[in-house]
Amino acid sequence: MKIAIGSDHAGYDYRRMLISHLEAAGHEIIDCGCEEKVSCDYPVYGRKAARLVKSGACERGVVICGTGFGISLAANRLEGIRCVNCTDVLTVRMARLHNNANMIALGARVIGEDTAKLLVDTFLETPHEGGRHGIRVALIDSLPKE
Ligand code: RB5
Repeated sequence: MKIAIGSDHAGYDYRRMLISHLEAAGHEIIDCGCEEKVSCDYPVYGRKAARLVKSGACERGVVICGTGFGISLAANRLEGIRCVNCTDVLTVRMARLHNNANMIALGARVIGEDTAKLLVDTFLETPHEGGRHGIRVALIDSLPKE
């Protein structure tokens, strides 16, 4: 799968770790930065990754900051992006099955490295259920900006 990945400085090490993990599993990664582990602005990197998912250049996106909050809020500003900030396997599974989440946000200061790998694997492996859930997701995407 082609995956966009981005982080700020707080997520830098986790991003490097996840890139190795995902490449070893055969995924193609587009790395959206940040370039260095120095203080930077998470909206820049959330947007870069989200743009690749929105355009269809990447099927999914993974973004990381300290909590996962800021970078998910930024990604969700783009139309068609459904980015969820998760800390456990159940919510990742449900976000795929019911919400067809196309991006996941992780908090490097919140979860451990092994949990991050497990959550990303779950995010990539779990299908969307479709049916009534698909109708609701389409409804989300059709909501006008107010
Ligand atoms: C950076 O210190 C931190 O604010 C950022 O990584 C993120 O947690 C914001 O939501």
